[in-house]
Amino acid sequence: RGCKLIGCGSAVPTLKVSNDDLAKIVDTNDEWISVRTGIRNRRVLSGKDNLTDLAAEAARKALEMAEVDPNDVDLILLCSSTPEDLFGSAPQIQKALGCKSNPLAFDITAACSGFMLGLVSAACYIRGGGFKNVLVIGADALSRYVDWTDRGTCILFGDAAGAVVVQACDIGEDGLFGFDLHSDGEGQRHLNASIKENETAHAFGTNGSVGFPPKSSSYSCIQMNGKEVFRFAVRVVPQSIEAALENAGLPRSEIDWLLLHQANQRIIDAVATRLEVPSERVISNLANYGNTSAASIPLALDEAVRSGKVQSGHVIAAAGFGAGLTWGSAILRW
Ligand code: ACO
Repeated sequence: RGCKLIGCGSAVPTLKVSNDDLAKIVDTNDEWISVRTGIRNRRVLSGKDNLTDLAAEAARKALEMAEVDPNDVDLILLCSSTPEDLFGSAPQIQKALGCKSNPLAFDITAACSGFMLGLVSAACYIRGGGFKNVLVIGADALSRYVDWTDRGTCILFGDAAGAVVVQACDIGEDGLFGFDLHSDGEGQRHLNASIKENETAHAFGTNGSVGFPPKSSSYSCIQMNGKEVFRFAVRVVPQSIEAALENAGLPRSEIDWLLLHQANQRIIDAVATRLEVPSERVISNLANYGNTSAASIPLALDEAVRSGKVQSGHVIAAAGFGAGLTWGSAILRW
């Protein structure tokens, strides 16, 4: 059994925040941000919208393009590190889409690599589990975990959702033919948003004392060593894409489009240079949206498909990387 991508969709919040807007709240400026990152604007959730609705909107658009009825979906994978329910938001998307057949819906947490893991998981469920139509959604709202007084991180992130429909097909039409996935917990110190230490107390203390647990726990804001994350990405992503190409049995020259997690234009350019992919074959939309974590790859794919850049039969080398640390690549045919 093969599997192919047959639809995509995306949704972003209405509130647009420019570099100039950020310069009003932290000591920064448009030139620094755009030269160092390539980012000019980002979208941020306001009181008017929420992430689950955005994810459902992106999913609805992907199903429409795929011409798949919500009742024919048998698996929903929500790739998100910022769900609106600690227990996972995927079932809420199943409810919002009105899938009466009660497809399995669950969350996958892998930060900016989440969508790649979701895509490969979808392929495994289709190939080994008999599933037919799988919705893979990447959605994140890192704006909720950003320290808006830290100019080193608050300029980078935006909120968004993107989705694809992956469908079972004959092996001859297979559209996902090579992947490579990794993680390295040693690198967690370079990028994390951990539970606050003083809130991990339990009713039964380590010294045997019994007390009341905290009413609620919360996570700290995103902590990042930008230089280390930059070096990590530029080192592992080309290796990972090479490995995925090898697994796919394809040479680099077969790549029509390079589609990387949209974190920093300088990372995208460095990886493209190492893989010798010319800039006109590189998909980039982070100038408009910043780093939208698990949403960035399906959001950029959706724009590239709807604008006619990516066409049926094109080969895409896609790669995600981020907190965990996690990273992974897949070679796809649209
Ligand atoms: N505006 C103006 N100056 C700034 C800003 C800002 N927004 N931020 C930092 N600076 C200053 C610093 O204070 C520093 O000043 P100093 O030299 O006086 O000390 C100087 O600019 C250089 O700062 P660096 O942090 O060294 O700048 P760098 O060139 O490394 O760029 C950046 C920082 C853009 C964050 C870069 O390291 C990067 O993009 N790293 C990758 C980050 C990334 O991709 N993270 C997402 C991972 S995805 C996930 O899973 C969440």
